[in-house]
Amino acid sequence: MARVLSGIQPTGALHLGNLLGAVRNWVEDQHRADSYFVVVDLHALTVPKSPEVLRRSTVEMATLLTAIGLDPDVCTLFVQSHVPAHAELSWFMECTAAFGELRRMVQFKDKSDRAEFVSAGLFTYPALQAADILLYDTDRVPVGDDQRQHLELTRDLAARFNARYGQTFVVPEATIPRAGARVMDLQNPTDKMSKSSSSEAGIVYVLEDLEAVVRKFKRAVTDSESEVRYDIVAKPGVSNLLSILAACTGQDPASLAEGYSQYGPLKADTAEAVVETLRPVQARYAELSADPGAMTAILAKGAEKAAAVANLTLTRARDALGLLPRG
Ligand code: TYM
Repeated sequence: MARVLSGIQPTGALHLGNLLGAVRNWVEDQHRADSYFVVVDLHALTVPKSPEVLRRSTVEMATLLTAIGLDPDVCTLFVQSHVPAHAELSWFMECTAAFGELRRMVQFKDKSDRAEFVSAGLFTYPALQAADILLYDTDRVPVGDDQRQHLELTRDLAARFNARYGQTFVVPEATIPRAGARVMDLQNPTDKMSKSSSSEAGIVYVLEDLEAVVRKFKRAVTDSESEVRYDIVAKPGVSNLLSILAACTGQDPASLAEGYSQYGPLKADTAEAVVETLRPVQARYAELSADPGAMTAILAKGAEKAAAVANLTLTRARDALGLLPRG
């Protein structure tokens, strides 16, 4: 059975981009593959944050992933820092990556341009991400389009390590969905929807009040024409709405466009499709968050299962490198 792994940072609230670009597809993957999903709390440390907020948001993110449909009896759901092998393999990956290679990472450039304090961890972040993936002999990594470059780097690092030290890691592939891979900001449709967007009006949160969601779609930026056409370059706002509607309804954005002659009905239908996607998630989240103790137990069991796999790979990598066996 193929092995799937993906991860998400516990920073900020989950938005529609995370849902349509990644998490929703994980729900299907868990039934098709031996699947590992990880809340990457160590990655969140690359930008300083309040310990209280990190603690709370880690549990909230795991709860929300379960509310969206990850079933801890079917997949392995865990927190990155509960499996120490991630931090150790990350060092091996830092020593496999070239400085210039990490410097070329677009996400590093974006984030470091905006950050007041640029930690060394922000720079080596992709090496930790490679470790997350390679520890599990992962075949496929379901992610949104913005992770493409990190996945290419992971493949390069795995291949380089294997070439230097002998076959150790599986070289993984990214799986990027056809619809929803790049959900754009509703107010600035040439920028991706992101936790760090400047305007709240452009982001739709999974746990947001549903009437507010409808209002955000009503006010979404389109353009001064009135033709509904799927053309990302010439009509980014309209195309974003079509992509969101397509991702929520399982249709094709270009064929959906043929059914509309005005922006108003497209906005209304997209809002409705999103609301119907979010409504059951919100209801389930309310139920699950009433019992935080249950989530602690789920995460402990997940970490145990994950560590059993990760430690085997780590031992293989240590041996390959020539580190003395422990104990
Ligand atoms: P993160 O936490 O920023 O995002 C989680 C997932 O959501 C996707 N995503 C989007 N998809 C479509 N449209 C958008 N606007 C949008 N914004 C975010 C991301 O592509 C991602 O799949 N570095 C990763 C976390 C990570 C990871 C891993 C992922 C750490 N280790 C190992 C896969 C495998 C990140 O910061 O994702």
